[in-house]
Parts: sequence; structure tokens; C-alpha cells
Amino acid sequence: MKMLAAPVAVLALWATSVQAATDEKIAERLKPVGEVCVAGQECKGVAAVAAGASGGGARTGDEIVARHCNACHGSGLLNAPKVGDNAAWKARADERGGLDALLHSAIAGRNAMPPKGTCADCSDDELKAAIGKMSGL
Ligand code: HEC
Repeated sequence: MKMLAAPVAVLALWATSVQAATDEKIAERLKPVGEVCVAGQECKGVAAVAAGASGGGARTGDEIVARHCNACHGSGLLNAPKVGDNAAWKARADERGGLDALLHSAIAGRNAMPPKGTCADCSDDELKAAIGKMSGL
């Protein structure tokens, strides 16, 4: 009997500590929600999301590309010029008359390229940053 008691005690200890760790993790996971949105108080997380979604602070080219452009330009889907394929972008820029001309066709859309590359709330500057990022121009 004695031989069993030790492992059982260890097991019990282990189980308690796992439970404690789990509780801690749950508390940690819940924390941001409780912190973020208490009525009548500043709602940090939501403000950050709102700022990202609209005007309050421009998103970087990287962010726009990752969220909106990469779907096609990452793999060259539908013959989209690929991210980082500087030569392909340069050829287009030369053909249209520069980076600004590319920006205009990105805003308006072109063949399979949807207007604003599906980033309906992108500002011209954000689109320009995204094009700069993808093209290296
Ligand atoms: C649904 C797929 C798709 C998405 C999403 C997309 N593009 Fe495109 N894009 C294309 C395709 C296809 C072309 C090539 C169009 C052509 O010349 O026929 C293209 C071409 C372009 C061009 C070159 C236009 C020209 O005049 O040659 C620019 C600039 C561009 N995209 C910018 C963007 C930006 C910026 C984003 C993200 C905000 C984006 N695209 C998202 C498909 C996409």
C-alpha cells in the first residue's frame, strides 16, 4: 500500500498544478476582453481596431498587402504581377507612365484586378504604399 501512496500523491499534486495553470491561462485569455470593453471607459482594443479600419492612422504598405493584395499578387493569380517581381512591376510602370499611373489603375481596377484591390476603405496613400511594397519601385 505504501508503494502506491507516493505516486498517488504526486499525481494529485500534478493534477492540482495543471488545474492552477489552466485557471491562470483562462484568466489571462479572458483578461483582454474584460479590460477592453467596460462601458463608459476607454475601450483601447476597439479604438485600435477602429483606427486600423478607417482613417485614424494610416496602415503600412505591409499591412495592406498582407490583408488585401497578397491573395492575388502573392502567387500571381490571374496574372497579377507578383510581390517582389520588380521587373514585372517596372515594365508595367514604364508602360503606363509611372508609379502614379499604376496607382490610378489600381484605384479604378483593371481587367481581373478589382477596384482598389478589394481594399474599399484604403486611402490613395495606403494603396500607393502597398504598390511600393509589392513592386519595390
Ligand atoms: C482579386 C485579385 C487581386 C487582388 C486582391 C489585387 N489585385 Fe492587383 N492585380 C490583379 C490582376 C489580375 C492584375 C493584372 C491586371 C491586368 O493588367 O490585366 C493586377 C494588377 C495590379 C496593378 C498594376 C495595374 C496596371 O496598370 O498594370 C496594381 C498597381 C495593383 N494590381 C495593385 C493592387 C493592390 C495595391 C492591391 C491590394 C490593395 C491589389 N492589387 C489586389 C489582381 C488583384
